[in-house]
Amino acid sequence: MHIADSVYFISGGASGLGEAAARRLAANGAAGVVISDLNLEAAQKLASELGDVALAVRVDVQNTDEIVAGMDAAITRFGRIDAAINCAGIGWAERTLDRENNAAPIDNYRRVININLVGTFNVTRIAASHIAKNEPQDSGERGVIVMTASLAAFDGQIGQAAYSASKGGIVGMTLPLSRDLAATGIRVMTVAPGLIDTPIYDTMPEGLKERLASTPVFPKRLGLPDEYAHLVQAILENRYLNGETIRLDAALRMAPK
Ligand SMILES: NC(=O)c1ccc[n+]([C@@H]2O[C@H](COP(=O)([O-])OP(=O)(O)OC[C@H]3O[C@@H](n4cnc5c(N)ncnc54)[C@H](O)[C@@H]3O)[C@@H](O)[C@H]2O)c1
Repeated sequence: MHIADSVYFISGGASGLGEAAARRLAANGAAGVVISDLNLEAAQKLASELGDVALAVRVDVQNTDEIVAGMDAAITRFGRIDAAINCAGIGWAERTLDRENNAAPIDNYRRVININLVGTFNVTRIAASHIAKNEPQDSGERGVIVMTASLAAFDGQIGQAAYSASKGGIVGMTLPLSRDLAATGIRVMTVAPGLIDTPIYDTMPEGLKERLASTPVFPKRLGLPDEYAHLVQAILENRYLNGETIRLDAALRMAPK
């Protein structure tokens, strides 16, 4: 896929990794960047900064009607969708039993799975139905889906049963999705980021972010959102990448806590 002249639908595009992807794609000549997010105000702020290339839409990935409407708005404005980049997601930490051995509320588990995993599949399947209508390029490719997992898919820490399951589900569906969508010329790839410096850490207890920053092997720092966006660009451009998860983690392996 050529970054220039293509149209991108980014879920969770108003902040952090999605925002970085939106900025990089717009800077590299995208024909359209759809910033979809639960937070419409933040999406609109970014879209107005990026200019005519960007469209802000309010989409809660838990709501199928909103996903459909957001993609319809993208088609109305730009005429097509060439790639979907799934960044909408939430962090969550809760032990299975609390200090008094009470079981964790099941609704919290369901919510994390619903946003991070079901939401990613829902955006992916609806985006694929639009991408499938594109004329294929000479290579037969019609478009690309990028999903965002996490190191927690592999090295889940204490308290991460729900979050790790949601991200492990994304890793697990990467290959079958690429097989499902092969006939339509759509590649599917997943990025599993380590610790990238985004607002997702804003609510952490004081000092924890600094402690985390010392844990990667090399370079010994948090990743930059644009380092994620750079990998997304490489995935979009490299036609031979398909059905795989790439760790973006400076060789970090998470400890139990
Ligand atoms: N930052 C990291 O270190 C890191 C590491 C591993 C995985 N991730 C994953 O990357 C993704 C992006 O994280 P980030 O660090 O950019 O966080 P972030 O909080 O900066 O951005 C997430 C965005 O998703 C939006 N969002 C949340 N729930 C939504 C919903 N139901 N529908 C639509 N939008 C919703 C938020 O409004 C926000 O704009 C998440 O899936 C996260 O789990 C991040």
